[in-house]
Amino acid sequence: MHDLLHIEICQKADSALLKGEIEGLVYEEILAEGKVDLDCVYYGEKCKNETLKTHVESFLCTYDDAEKHQIKIEGANIKFYTYRLTQEDVATETIQTDSEQLSAASHWILPAKEFHYLWENLFYDSEMKENLLHFVQSTMIFSDKNVNSTIISWNKVILLHGPPGTGKTSLCKAIAQKAAIRLGDRFTHGELIEINSHSLFSKWFSESGKLVMQLFNEIKTLLENPNALVCVLIDEIESLAHVRKSCANGIEPTDSIRVVNALLTQLDHIKRFPNVLILTTSNMTESIDLAFVDRADIKLLVGHPNVQCIYKIFSTCLKELMRADIIESQPIHELSYLKFVGYEETSCTKASIKLLELSQLSQGLSGRTLRRIPFLAHALHIQNPKCTLTQFLRAIYLTIEKQKEESENW
Ligand SMILES: Nc1ncnc2c1ncn2[C@@H]1O[C@H](COP(=O)(O)OP(=O)(O)O)[C@@H](O)[C@H]1O
Ligand SMILES: [Mg+2]
Repeated sequence: MHDLLHIEICQKADSALLKGEIEGLVYEEILAEGKVDLDCVYYGEKCKNETLKTHVESFLCTYDDAEKHQIKIEGANIKFYTYRLTQEDVATETIQTDSEQLSAASHWILPAKEFHYLWENLFYDSEMKENLLHFVQSTMIFSDKNVNSTIISWNKVILLHGPPGTGKTSLCKAIAQKAAIRLGDRFTHGELIEINSHSLFSKWFSESGKLVMQLFNEIKTLLENPNALVCVLIDEIESLAHVRKSCANGIEPTDSIRVVNALLTQLDHIKRFPNVLILTTSNMTESIDLAFVDRADIKLLVGHPNVQCIYKIFSTCLKELMRADIIESQPIHELSYLKFVGYEETSCTKASIKLLELSQLSQGLSGRTLRRIPFLAHALHIQNPKCTLTQFLRAIYLTIEKQKEESENW
């Protein structure tokens, strides 16, 4: 399956055109162009075909071989995924206790507007994203074919761990969205439930265990629809391990351990459903003392981005500021292009080479800090509604220096 060109088409919410029709038109459009840029969003309004203009929001082409930047359409092995974004906003699932309403979980119907192209905007060095996606796809194949899990051990738990700000929570949400799109012919939609463990465990109620049951009964109702892909996200799972440990030391009331145990038992229950995916994160890099985590099938260490990824993060930020007309438009080249011209500095490559230097300087900063830098740069050093790229790069340089100073003083 390594030579597939995946084309994900985001159909407008109010469009009633049949998938097949849209796919045919997109195919004609790109065939006329001869080739497509990979991992680059094409907007419907920019299409030549009038029907696409009215019915398509955007589309994106990706190829399994990540080294390529373009691909010829003729003869390509294409798989289409056409989807519409749900228009509903996130819903908060509350549960009623004797004294108050507790926000127990957040609930999205996927693919959701909020996570549109989130996956494409997360950059990692290794094949992390591809591996994740393949894992999800294999899981669903095994489920669909009813592989006996007492013979082949596999369940549906993913753990992403690593330092804070490395994109773990975002990656969980993005994989859920991606899976909902890519498995579109298997499921009608996805559901993402983010369990609010902070709020669930911040207070201890004698009936907390019952509240967990209530929440999971709702999740099970969702799971009973075989056409829904149900993703359950438990963020910062180490907080559960922490509860257990302090219980063992007799610090916390025993109610809390009961709640954590109830949660773990419930998770074990829902793992039996074929259409579930359990996503967990932890900010700890060492092992977490939690039996549940041992059973995670895939444990991925998420680290700080390398120079190539930093360059991509900065590029996307700068392009966004050009789109918003805050920075004067000017091309920013792909790193592969800079390499191709031997990093020779000309008027055309000057800014990109400067950006590469800034990326090298930013090593060791988290993805979260990097995404904040352009805003800080503007607030601290630009302030005007519009400036040149050169001015902005200078501002970024000053901001990076400041960020590094701050992280050293921490
Ligand atoms: N590798 C990365 N590539 C792009 N953006 C990143 C990366 N790592 C972190 N970010 C950005 O940093 C922010 C914080 O990410 P988050 O998912 O909350 O991290 P974590 O859960 O690991 O603390 C998000 O806006 C995310 O887009
Ligand atoms: Mg997080």
